Amino acid sequence: MTALTTSDADRVAALEACEAAGRLDDAFLTRFDEQFPRLHGLFTRLYGERADGREQLAATVAAASASWNARPLDLKVHDAQRAADPEWFQSERMLGGVCYVDRFAGNLAGVRELIPSFRELGLTYLHLMPLFDAPLGDNDGGYAVSSYRRVNPSLGTMAQLAELAAELRMAGISLVLDFIFNHTSNAHEWAQKAVAGDPAYADFYLIFPDRQMPDAYERTTREIFPDDHRGSFVQLEDGRWIWSTFYHYQWDLNYANPAVFRAMAGEMLFLANQGVEVLRMDAVAFIWKRLGTSCESLPEAHLLLQAFNAVLAMAAPGMVFKSEAIVHPDEVVSYISPEECELSYNPLQMALTWEALATRDGRLLQQALDRRHELPPGTAWVNYVRSHDDIGWTFADEDAAEFGIDGYAHRQFLNRFYTGRHEGTFARGVAFQENPATGDARVTGTTASLAGIEAGDPGGEDRVVLAHALALSTGGIPLLYLGDEVAQLNDYSYADDPVRRGDTRWVHRGNRPRDAYAQRGDDTTPAGRVFRRLTKLISVRQQSPELAGNTLIPFHTPHPAVVGYQRPGPETTLLVLANVGDAEVTIDPLTLSGFERTAFDPVHDASVDLDEGVTLRPHGFVWLRVTPV
Ligand code: GLC
Repeated sequence: MTALTTSDADRVAALEACEAAGRLDDAFLTRFDEQFPRLHGLFTRLYGERADGREQLAATVAAASASWNARPLDLKVHDAQRAADPEWFQSERMLGGVCYVDRFAGNLAGVRELIPSFRELGLTYLHLMPLFDAPLGDNDGGYAVSSYRRVNPSLGTMAQLAELAAELRMAGISLVLDFIFNHTSNAHEWAQKAVAGDPAYADFYLIFPDRQMPDAYERTTREIFPDDHRGSFVQLEDGRWIWSTFYHYQWDLNYANPAVFRAMAGEMLFLANQGVEVLRMDAVAFIWKRLGTSCESLPEAHLLLQAFNAVLAMAAPGMVFKSEAIVHPDEVVSYISPEECELSYNPLQMALTWEALATRDGRLLQQALDRRHELPPGTAWVNYVRSHDDIGWTFADEDAAEFGIDGYAHRQFLNRFYTGRHEGTFARGVAFQENPATGDARVTGTTASLAGIEAGDPGGEDRVVLAHALALSTGGIPLLYLGDEVAQLNDYSYADDPVRRGDTRWVHRGNRPRDAYAQRGDDTTPAGRVFRRLTKLISVRQQSPELAGNTLIPFHTPHPAVVGYQRPGPETTLLVLANVGDAEVTIDPLTLSGFERTAFDPVHDASVDLDEGVTLRPHGFVWLRVTPV
């Protein structure tokens, strides 16, 4: 075994390993030359002290070379198309959808049958929730993976998945899959071997003989799933302790061992060649641990992601990463760059949309748009109203303090409000992972149930549409939780299911709402009205070049309930004004004096005279095509 030395010696070792693994392709060699110095630098920082550094680096690069050789021709053609249009995900035509294969479509064949309806909706991006082999029952909705190379047999096969990816691609829809690389299921072969003492896998996880180290780590780590187990460790049958951030059956991998990086990169390369276009990098904040720290978002977590990015750039250059970091907003953006994750969920905008609807005050959301929206070139937000996960109130306390808001008390209020415990609330949500020790909790519920439709609140439908009008117009890729476009309500039947009852997130992960979809053309139903209004917004977005990219210029009005911004296009600007309050608001002509007097409302196909001001109904909004003077 050899430690990493100079780039030149390690470069030769890597190229020799590539040749030993098969042909060295010219196109690969070009990208190797571009990426190797970067990957080498990252490996040196991560693993410079290790005796097996060079060996693991060479093996990783050899796997990338072999993977490129095996990459199907249609994917290589697609890579070239992406190279010609690297900002493809910034288009105003982008629209994401997310669903569970089993709950939404039964299985992969069922997903295939839905492709026409996805096209009709305008989807260009489809995130299928984890569909890998996972133990029956305890699997955290698929996030406890026992093989990344097998599809869960109840959903289909890997060959079917690759075919589906190709069909989606032909329909203009990019397949998005999770890369669950922080942890595996305890049933994964690596986990079984590690526990059994197989020397090749002994260091794949963080296992300790007694409580000494776990106690030391837990002095500074946070509890993520306190309903399941306290702290960050669980005890093995033989008495030892293993790191487990999430459920007790999800064991964290030990990335301080470069063999783990090499092994996981192999799984990533395998998935890349099935035709996945975007990998959703699950739980990125947790992948590196160091004693005495929170073990979240450490510098090495970024180095690891960049190293995965460099490997992918060699072997599947058309693919991109999406970061799932549901943490402090300063940390969320730290993962976003073309060298790390090109895309990221925007959990701040999501949470503050709900915050604004509860408080009827748009100032925190406006502040986030004013100063936390900008991103580096070549990257984009994924803007969403809700996901399969709980809503955590991840705003920065220091931001809230500027308005005299105490972060802790405000989160308590929001939790009470959205779990229906606040008097007069319109929301019907359920608490997730309430921690009596810290007072912390998060909220679950479908968009329609949280926004007031379930409670019969007259503003419910407007709030659903308003929340989407924001996500569809702030930039990047808007992402729909499929079912929300027909106002799907909470499904409380999870409480009767012994496997799901312990996890309240199932309340908003109901099966495909067939009845609501059947009503989508019927304007006398909430499903029909919400669907009509949202699909109108989607089609307007598709025809609004102003909505491409991420450039957003704040637009302030004298009204705290109004959130405003401009999206400048090549010629005209789209001005968005959204009223999160319960009272009608009129924006006076003076506030609008920076624009030519005649504006156009593309949602209602009407021209608007700005000299008359703009009146926003309660929970109403406008998208106005304006010309700055
Ligand atoms: C991510 C997933 C969540 C899962 C967790 C552990 O946060 O979105 O559903 O519980 O990772 O894998």
